[in-house]
Amino acid sequence: MCGIVGAVAKRNVVPVMLEGLKRLEYRGYDSCGIALCTEGHLERSRSTSRVAELEKQVNGRHLSGFLGIAHTRWATHGAPTTDNAHPHFSGERIALVHNGIIENHAVLRAELEAKGYVFSSQTDTEVIAHLIDSLYQGDLLKAVQSAVTRLRGAFAIAVICRDEPQRMVGARQGSPLVVGIGENEHFLASDALALAGTTDRIVYLEEGDTVDISLNDCHIYDAQGRPAPREVRVVSVYAGVSELGPYRHFMQKEIFEQPRAISDTLQGLAGISPELFGDGALPILQQTDSILILACGTSYYAGLTAKYWMESIARIPVEVEIASEYRYRDSVPSPNRLVVTISQSGETADTLAALRHARDLGMNRSLTICNVATSAMVRECALSYITRAGVEIGVASTKAFTTQLTALFLLSLVIAKIRGRLTPEQEAAHMKSLRHLPVAVSAVLALEPQIIAWAEDFSRHNDALFLGRGIHYPIALEGALKLKEISYIHAEAYPAGELKHGPLALVTDKMPVVTIAPNDDLLEKLKSNMQEVRARGGQLYVFADSDTRIMSQEGIHVIRMPENYGQLSPILHVIPLQLLAYHTALVRGTDVDKPRNLAKSVTVE
Ligand code: F6R
Repeated sequence: MCGIVGAVAKRNVVPVMLEGLKRLEYRGYDSCGIALCTEGHLERSRSTSRVAELEKQVNGRHLSGFLGIAHTRWATHGAPTTDNAHPHFSGERIALVHNGIIENHAVLRAELEAKGYVFSSQTDTEVIAHLIDSLYQGDLLKAVQSAVTRLRGAFAIAVICRDEPQRMVGARQGSPLVVGIGENEHFLASDALALAGTTDRIVYLEEGDTVDISLNDCHIYDAQGRPAPREVRVVSVYAGVSELGPYRHFMQKEIFEQPRAISDTLQGLAGISPELFGDGALPILQQTDSILILACGTSYYAGLTAKYWMESIARIPVEVEIASEYRYRDSVPSPNRLVVTISQSGETADTLAALRHARDLGMNRSLTICNVATSAMVRECALSYITRAGVEIGVASTKAFTTQLTALFLLSLVIAKIRGRLTPEQEAAHMKSLRHLPVAVSAVLALEPQIIAWAEDFSRHNDALFLGRGIHYPIALEGALKLKEISYIHAEAYPAGELKHGPLALVTDKMPVVTIAPNDDLLEKLKSNMQEVRARGGQLYVFADSDTRIMSQEGIHVIRMPENYGQLSPILHVIPLQLLAYHTALVRGTDVDKPRNLAKSVTVE
C-alpha cells in the first residue's frame, strides 16, 4: 500500500528518498514520485513504473535538493496514471504526499474549485494540497494544522513549501507516520523500515499529531495543538532485512524462515502463564466468558483455526468475524467478551476500525496478536502478544501466519489453565510439542523437491479445489488464498463434507483437488469424500500424515507429511500449501513478492 518518505538535510536527499522508496516497494504500489525544493522552486518527477525507473528519470534530470518528499501510490481514487501519482502540487508553492483516504474530498474539491483552484488529478489527495495552500499565510505548520481539522477519513501526510525551504510538516490520523532523527537532519516516513540504514532513532507519531521538522529541530503537537513530547526509540531490527540471501524471492525466504520465526516467537517460554499476554492479563482473562476474534485475510484464517483450539482445549465460546463486515454489522455485544485482534502489520484499517467499533459497543477488554510492537493495534489493545516473525516483505503472508497460530495456541492454553482445564501433565506435553515445533517445521520444508514436481501440473490449470475437515478447513482456505493471490489460479476451499452440497458439480478430470489429510478423528469421513472426487474423475493431490495409509494410485498423488503433530498439525499442514503456491507461481512467471493489485499492509478501508 502507499508509502511516504521525506527528508530535510544539509546533503542531497535524493539517494535517501529513493532508498526509502525501494524499502517500501514490498508494500505494493502502482506509481511513484518524488518532489524537491531546490533553488527557490519545486521540482517533481513521477512514474507509473517501478522505483528503479523513477531513479533513472531523476538521475537523467540531475535532480537534487536538501528538502524533499517521495511516495509510492496504490491507487484508490483515480487510475494509476502519472497525473494521479504523488507528490501533488498546489500551484508552484505547496507539495504533498498522502497515505489514506479523504472521505469528504468531493465537498472540499467543490469548495476549492469555487475559489479558483484547478485540479490536475482525480485523486482525493490533491484537495489537501490546495486546502493547505488556501490557508497558507507564511507558516506551513499553521496551514497544515488548520487544514487537517477539515479532513474526514484517514491520512498521513508530508508537506513542503517553496517559501520555507528548510522545513517539512507532517500529520497523522488513522495512517502511520514516523519521524527519523539524524545528525542535523530529520526524516518522515510511513514505516521505520524506509529509514533503515539512514537512522535508527525513530519517533512514532500518535493519532492526531502534527510534526514540524527542520535541520536541527523536531516539534510535535497533539490533536489540540499542544506540544506533545514523544519517546525516541532505537529501532535496529531491520539490519539485513532486505537481503534475499540464497533465495529467489522474499516469499520463499520467509517460508524457510518459519522454524526460526516460531522459535523466536516462543523465546523465553518457561510455562503457560497469563503474563505472556501482559501484566494485567490474569484479571481480564478470569472475567472473560467468551471471545470475539476480529481480523482480515490470512489473519482471519488464523482466527478460524484458533476457534477450534479454544473451544476444544479451553471450552470457551469463540466467534470469529471478518473485520470489514463486523465494523458495519448490527451485532449483539457482550460485556465479558474478550476482543482478540490478529494482525501482522498492526495497521490494517478494517481491523483497527472493528476493534474501535467493539470498544464503542462497550467491549473494552482487548488483546492483540501482532507482529509489530510499535503498531496502532498494540497501542490500542490492553493486552498483546508480539509474534517475532521479523519483517515480512512478501505480500503473501507466510511466517506471520504460522507465528500467529503459535501465539493463538498459547492463548488457548492460558485460558484453559485459568478455567481449570489444563492438568500439569497436559501442560508439560504441550510445552514439549511447542519446543519441538521448529524442528517439525524444518522436516516439512524438506518436502520442497516433491512439491516442485507437482507445481508443474498445477501451473497448467486455471482452477483448483482445496479440501480440509475440522481444524484443517481454515488451512484449506489459507492454501487456496495463497494459490490465487500469487499464481492467479482460481482456487476455492471447502470443508470436504460440503462437496456433495454443490461444489462436486465442478469436479471433472480437469480439476486438481488438494486434500489435507491428517490422521485425526475425521480421517475415515475424509477418505469417503476423496472417493466422491475420484468417482467424478477429479485428480487428488493429498498431503497425508504418514500413518493414514493413503497410497498413491491412479488419480491420487500423495506426499507424506513427516509426522502426525496432533493439535498443532495445522501449523505443519499449511507449509506444503505455501510451497505449492510459491512454486506454481514460479512456473507461471508471476511477480511472486508483489502480486498484481495487492498491497502489503492494507491501511485504507
Ligand atoms: C494474504 C495476506 C492478507 C493479510 C490481510 C491482513 O497473504 O497477507 O490477507 O493477512 O491483509 O493483514 P494484517 O495481518 O496485517 O492485518
